[in-house]
This record gives sequence, C-alpha cells and structure tokens, in this order.
Amino acid sequence: MTIKAAILGFGTVGEGVYQILQTKRDHLTKLAGAPIELCGILVDNLSKERELPHSVFVTDQYEQILAQKPDVIFEAIVGEEPCFSYLTKAVDRHIHVVTANKVMFAKYGTRLLEQAAQKVGIGYEATTASGTPILGTITRLLQANSITKIEAILNGTSNYILSSIQNEGKGFQEALEEAQKRGFAEADPTNDIKGYDAFYKLMILSQLIYQSQPSWESVPCEGIDHITADQFNDAQQQGNKIRHIASIEEVNGELHASVKPQVLSPSHGLHSIDGVDNAIHLFGDLVGPLTLRGPGAGQLATASAMVEDFLYIWQSYPAKQLLY
Ligand code: NDP
Ligand code: HSE
Repeated sequence: MTIKAAILGFGTVGEGVYQILQTKRDHLTKLAGAPIELCGILVDNLSKERELPHSVFVTDQYEQILAQKPDVIFEAIVGEEPCFSYLTKAVDRHIHVVTANKVMFAKYGTRLLEQAAQKVGIGYEATTASGTPILGTITRLLQANSITKIEAILNGTSNYILSSIQNEGKGFQEALEEAQKRGFAEADPTNDIKGYDAFYKLMILSQLIYQSQPSWESVPCEGIDHITADQFNDAQQQGNKIRHIASIEEVNGELHASVKPQVLSPSHGLHSIDGVDNAIHLFGDLVGPLTLRGPGAGQLATASAMVEDFLYIWQSYPAKQLLY
C-alpha cells in the first residue's frame, strides 16, 4: 500500500512540502505506516522552469489531480478562489486536506470543517504562525482552559522589516526586498505590510478559541507601511520598540480585536521578538500567561507544519475524532 499525495502550488511552500516528502521519506514511511508517493503537482503557469524530475506529474488542470485519486492534498496556493472550490471538491471525494492558505481559511474554514466533519481530516496549522504550533497547542494541549486574551506577533514579514529597521538601521524597501527573497513575504506583499495577513490569522485564532469572529469591519486594521522615521526615533530614544501586534479579548461575551503597530517597552513580553519570528502570548484561566515563539514564515518551517498536520490526520483518522 502507498499513500498518494498531491501538492497544489509549487512556490515557496509547495516546494518545501515536496522537499520534506523526499528528504524524510524513510522516516515518514515509518510514521505513516506506508510510503507517501507524490501523484501530482498543480501549478498556474506550466511553462515555468522547475527543479523537478521528469517523472513527476505537473499539471495546470485540477481535474487531472483529482483523477489521480490522492489520499491527501497539500494546498499551498494563494487567495480565496479557486482554493476553496478545489478543497470543497477534495472533501466531497473523501480526500484529506492540509492547507497553508490563511486568506481562504479565515473566511471559509468553518464551512470546510463542517463539510469535512467525520469524513476526512482538515489540517490548517500552517495558516497561522507558520511552523510555530499554536493551533495544535490550543486544540490539543489547552482544551480545559478558557483563553480570555491573546496578544501576538502574527506576520513574519512585518516583524522582519521592523527588526531590520530598528536593530540594523536598514530601510523599509531594502528589508521588504530581503523578506521577499527569503520567501517570507507573499508574492504581492500588500497583505503583509498593511496588516491584513495578521488580521486573517487573528480571525482563525478567534474562530478556534471563541467559536466565533468579531465582525470584520469592527476590527481596526493597520499595517507597518506608514510608520515615520520620527516615530522609530522616538521609540528608540526611550529604549522601546515598535512591533506589529494583533490582539483579541473577550469582555462580557463580546470580542474586541485590533491589528496595529504598537510601541512596546522592554518589560513587554513581545519587545524582544526579532527577525521573522512570531510569538503568541495568551492567558488561559488554568495555565495562566503563556508565550509560544517560533518561525513565522519560511519554506521549511511552513512545510513542516503541513507535514506534521498530515501525520496527525493519518495516524488518528478515523480512530480518533479530529479535534480541529
Ligand atoms: P508562492 O507565490 O511562492 O507560490 C504560489 C504557488 O501557487 C505557485 O506555484 C503558483 O503557480 C501556484 N498557484 C497560484 N495560483 C494558482 C492557481 N489558480 N492554480 C494552481 N496553482 C496556482 O506562495 P507561497 O508558497 O509563499 O505561499 C503559498 C500559500 O501558503 C499562500 O496561501 C500563503 O499565504 C501561505 N503561507 C506562506 C508562507 C510563507 O512563508 N511563504 C507561510 C505560511 C503560509 P506558478 O508556480 O505556476 O506561478
Ligand atoms: N507572508 C506571511 C508572513 C507568511 O510573513 O507572515 C506566513 O504566513
């Protein structure tokens, strides 16, 4: 028996999944109980040069991927559509789904999970904080806790840019270009620098923790692209740092959220989070304050979360009901 896997998208993340399936082949075979065979890769532009053996089936037709009858689909495309429609079709055909696509999942995650209920697994750890396992920590290790508040750095590109400006004196554009070269930023970095990427991740966390989201229009959402040199200088002179903070809190049954740059003093737990790292500071009623920190973007870190999701689904399904 083999496990048939398809990858949608062969950019930074899709290629990372491919690499892990190759380099960890023996280890994954032991963990999954059977070898994982790649049955197809979906791309947008078939004429792009790719470092892939000729034996790998690459197509721009999703129906051809489905025709391979994959057991699992790793989705690493961009945006709401056609991703949601693709994954809906996959779930209908009882194919497990693992996604990194937070834009799609923030809006359609609940529908996908409802549609998948009991039939197949949906893994979405990579949508939020890349390789930092915040969703699994909340769903599997903090089940008995009520989480009242979250304060977090959720966009790796923004944190990378802010750190480069404040720690190394680099310019905004130079730091953004570095983040793009290193595969942290989206191909169109608007969502990164204007705060929307962190917003989508915050909505995914909100849904997971509170089983609801504040109305999107009610959440103030600012990025890091309008911070002035004077604001950076003022913060630095006082030993402070500007960080891009996404926060959400439940007060009297109402959710209050915001996404914006904030000036943090050295005593703040998120002041020292540098580079592409993300960090999530949460308050559980039993555990108390807790901070999880790790890579917030990047090829292997993100693909790591996707492959781990797959293993969890494969090992636990259908013996255990999926927790997320
Ligand atoms: P890239 O831009 O590097 O790659 C996107 C890939 O998707 C490309 O291979 C592209 O094809 C393919 N693609 C785009 N549209 C379609 C379509 N309609 N049909 C088929 N294929 C399509 O993006 P990333 O790899 O960086 O990101 C992928 C997803 O993962 C995004 O949703 C992103 O938000 C998310 N993510 C990214 C992280 C990161 O660190 N980069 C971290 C966590 C999540 P082609 O090659 O032909 O252009
Ligand atoms: N562009 C995103 C970021 C990728 O920089 O955080 C990880 O979701």
